[in-house]
Amino acid sequence: MRPVAPRPPLPALLALLWALLPEAQVHLALEDQRLEPRIDRSKDSLLATARVEATPGEEGSHPLTCAVSLGNQRRSTQEYVTIYSFPAPNLTLSESEVPEGTEVSVECKAHAGAAVTLSWGPDGSPLPRAQTTLNATAEDDGREFLCSAMLVVAGEELHKHKTQKLSVLHGPRLDQETCPGNWTWEEDTPQTLRCQALGNPTPTLACRREGDRALLPIGDLRPVTRAISGTYVCRATSSRGAVTHEVVVNVIYRQSNLATILAVAGLIVGLAGTVGLAAYLYNRQRKIRKYKLQKAQEQAAMKLNSPP
Ligand SMILES: *[C@@H]1O[C@H](CO)[C@@H](O)[C@H](O)[C@H]1NC(C)=O
Ligand SMILES: *[C@@H]1O[C@H](CO)[C@@H](O)[C@H](O)[C@H]1NC(C)=O
Ligand SMILES: *[C@@H]1O[C@H](CO)[C@@H](O)[C@H](O)[C@H]1NC(C)=O
Repeated sequence: MRPVAPRPPLPALLALLWALLPEAQVHLALEDQRLEPRIDRSKDSLLATARVEATPGEEGSHPLTCAVSLGNQRRSTQEYVTIYSFPAPNLTLSESEVPEGTEVSVECKAHAGAAVTLSWGPDGSPLPRAQTTLNATAEDDGREFLCSAMLVVAGEELHKHKTQKLSVLHGPRLDQETCPGNWTWEEDTPQTLRCQALGNPTPTLACRREGDRALLPIGDLRPVTRAISGTYVCRATSSRGAVTHEVVVNVIYRQSNLATILAVAGLIVGLAGTVGLAAYLYNRQRKIRKYKLQKAQEQAAMKLNSPP
């Protein structure tokens, strides 16, 4: 029987390695440039981190070497690091604030090698070219242009983008569409009176009734009252000018129930009065006749009683 060599127990072996880890030397180099890594030691590993200040002209693939030596042992590994330059694209509007009817040119430009797309509109549909011109209309106010650039680096797609908003000065606008000019409602019903002035800059709106200059109640009317009936003149004003528009409010109302009751009551009282008067006159007439009859009878009796 061969004697079995005594083996140190496993925990003792780990403890020995742990004690040696601080001794491990780490070398990190990018190409032939020696880096100064920060070393983080954990229970059974080392982590070396280094920052590289890439300078223009260094774009491309560079070998990164990591070597660890402990005692007379040395292990090393190599990976490739890609250095690239990809600034955000430039999106230029000839002017970002224009009056309507002005031609505006839009250009989206990116770093050489990157693919650019210029898109606009609410659906963000891309335009065929990264450069375009448009005749600014009120609908273009607030339109956002999006310039996107895409660069493929080491097989990976990278994206950068820029956005710009166009401000188109227009209005003030106040017409049948933005402010309907004829409202006819029944009294005591809930309604909404809609009247809006459009434009950039935002116009101020004031609607006053012809005559008493009362303000038009815009918005929710809960409920409609007959007091708001009338013809109002709305005026929208901005630094670009002023426009006016007429709004007529008709409120239909029925005779109220109370008035009806009073009218009926009045009729009844009237009827009763007429009947009463007729009865009185009839009775009076009858009494007079009766009285005359009595008088005539008395006179006849006197004649009979008087001596011939
Ligand atoms: C832009 O459009 C408006 C209205 O359609 C037109 O009057 C104007 O001449 C156009 N301007 C240019 C520069 O095309
Ligand atoms: C974007 O604009 C900046 C500043 O005007 C300029 O330095 C840069 O070269 C432009 N980039 C591109 C891709 O045109
Ligand atoms: C306003 O509306 C009412 C009811 O719809 C209609 O009878 C009237 O002719 C309209 N008036 C105007 C000026 O359009």
